[in-house]
Order: sequence, then structure tokens, then C-alpha cells
Amino acid sequence: MAHCQFGKAEFWDERYMHRKEPFDWYQRWSGIKDVVTQYVKPGNRILNVGCGNSKLPEEMYEDGYSLITNIDFSTYAIEDMHHRYAHQFADMQFIKMNALKMSFEDASFDAIIDKGTLDSILCGDRSSIMAHRMLSQVYRVLTAGGVYIVISYGPPENRLKYFNKPQFKWEVYCYKIAKPILSNTFTLAMDQADEPGVHYIYVCQRSNPRAIKNVTASPIPSAKDDLDPDEASESGEEHDEEGSEDYEEEEEDMDI
Ligand SMILES: C[S@@+](CC[C@H](N)C(=O)[O-])C[C@H]1O[C@@H](n2cnc3c(N)ncnc32)[C@H](O)[C@@H]1O
Repeated sequence: MAHCQFGKAEFWDERYMHRKEPFDWYQRWSGIKDVVTQYVKPGNRILNVGCGNSKLPEEMYEDGYSLITNIDFSTYAIEDMHHRYAHQFADMQFIKMNALKMSFEDASFDAIIDKGTLDSILCGDRSSIMAHRMLSQVYRVLTAGGVYIVISYGPPENRLKYFNKPQFKWEVYCYKIAKPILSNTFTLAMDQADEPGVHYIYVCQRSNPRAIKNVTASPIPSAKDDLDPDEASESGEEHDEEGSEDYEEEEEDMDI
């Protein structure tokens, strides 16, 4: 059951031990910046959760985002990143930490970027429980008004159910972007509902009670209209991400 391994630090350690060259899953910064820059500003405190050995922190830094804390539960990923960037970007932090048990204070970050990490947890054992644990931590360390931005291969019918829980007071916007044509991107797993050739960006914006104090109530969309309303519906066919059998079959489509 190869897919279960995506949720395990040993799997990622093994991978990063042998692959030292920088690698970006799904998208480079250039592919997501049009969306991200709408919500995240230089000066914001940013958490890059599950940083791997991607170039995202470097490319964001060069665009003015200097306050980036990067975490990953893989020792090798963090060591590589620290080694690569310690001199170049002295103020950038790389910390070995499990996203399910973060040691940051509440409300430590204005923005959290997750490129492929929630996806990999959803490909692991007890995926729904683990995903909820991670999202609870993300919610806790995010400021009121802050954003959690998830870059994913999963369409809304397989992702919104994790974000739209009563305890999470955030608005969720969804963008669909093209997969890069020429890139070294991989897919963790594929589902029948997945649309080839696209990735999704989910922006979960935590509500800020102070900001809405004097505002007359008006309807706020629960998902961005960039998508076909049918696609944004949660009523699509359920995909049991805890069911190992589904992923046994999906390994046919796995690229790694
Ligand atoms: C698909 S890779 C994405 C890496 C990087 N964000 C990128 O875009 O290239 C998923 C990353 O999440 C990390 N990861 C998975 N589960 C984690 C957890 N519970 N805590 C911290 N990192 C985790 C893995 O070590 C891996 O580096």
C-alpha cells in the first residue's frame, strides 16, 4: 500500500536522503503568485508548512516576502534547506516540526502556505482524522483575518468537506489553475473526480470579528466563482480517502 507512506516521516526522509536537488511539487512560485499575492503581503508572517526541499521560500523571498518560517517533519529536508539557505537568507527559519503538533503560539502567522502537504496527509493512514488534526493546528496558529492557502490536486468535492467544519470560522475561496506544461511536478494520487491538467488553490480566510464590527451584513460566497458552481458543490460523489482499496487502484496513476 504505497500510498499510505505519504503520511510518514520515514518515507519522506528516505526520499530527501537520496534526492538532494531542489524539487517543487505541482507548481513553482510563478504558477501561484497571482493568487497568493492577492492575500499575502510582504511584511506578513508566513508559515510554509511541509516545505520539503522546494524553491518556494527562495522565490517568495526574492519577491519581498522575508518573514518565512518553514517547517517539515523530515530531518533531511530541513537539514538540506538550512544548509542551502542559512547564509543567503539569514532571517529565514527552517524547523523540524510535525504539522499535526505545532509548537507555535496561537495566532503566530498571518498566512500559511501548504503546497502538497495536506494532500500527502490525505494519502496516508487515518487520513480524515490526521487532516482534521492538521487543520486544527493551522487554524490555531493563524491570526484572525489570516489566510491558509492550500495548493492541491484535489477538486472541491474531495477537499471542501475538510475545510467546511463548524469549528473553522473561515471563508473558503477556490481557484483553478493550469498545471505547468513543462515542469518536474508529480501527482500524489489521482481520483476519478480529478480533472487532468489543473491544480486547485484553496484560500481559507479566517474571519476577523473586529473587521466586521461596523459593516452591514451582506452575503459572502463560500467558494470563489472561478469554478463551475457544480464543481464547487460538496454534493459530488464522495471519495473515501481512508479506504486503502481506492488508493491501491490509484497507484496506477501515481507518478513517483
Ligand atoms: C508533496 S511534498 C510537498 C513539498 C513542498 N511543499 C513542495 O511544494 O514541493 C509534502 C511535504 O510535506 C511534508 N509533510 C507531510 N506530512 C507532514 C507532517 N505531518 N508534518 C510536517 N511535514 C509533513 C513531507 O515531508 C513533504 O516534504
